Amino acid sequence: MKKARTAAEWRRSKVTERMVSFSGGAGLMSKLGPLFQMEDGKRERHIPVIDCPDTVAAGKPFVINVTIGKEVNHPNTTEHHIKWIQVFFRPENDKFSYQIAHCDFAAHGDSVVGSGKGPVVTDHRVSVVVSVNGRGRIYALSMCNIHGLWESGKDLEVA
Ligand SMILES: [Fe+2]
Repeated sequence: MKKARTAAEWRRSKVTERMVSFSGGAGLMSKLGPLFQMEDGKRERHIPVIDCPDTVAAGKPFVINVTIGKEVNHPNTTEHHIKWIQVFFRPENDKFSYQIAHCDFAAHGDSVVGSGKGPVVTDHRVSVVVSVNGRGRIYALSMCNIHGLWESGKDLEVA
């Protein structure tokens, strides 16, 4: 039986995990890592921002909000927009990640009248209510129609 990690061991493991990314480990990183965009001048407005409590109660619902960018928002036009956001949870000591949500943004001002002249535009934000029974890490993925696939993660503690 695998020994439970202490809080300090858990935090150290998260530093390592941040380095190997959502892909789940160094071995898988070599397969999926190149799909994700890395830090560059555009990162500030593409990286998913996960907003939720740092610590939650086991089994008690809480809200996870995900948007793109924080200080510099991403464009949301017919020509340049976020196509989708996905949210996952990976429990501590679990080799699997569990999908929480997938949200496609389908309206970007498209219209027969012309690009950007349509009557509706969906904003690239997701709010989802979940409950967990143990600590782990939340991951968010986003897809820009021009600049590709982005990721972020946030540790979640359970009191
Ligand atoms: Fe973009």
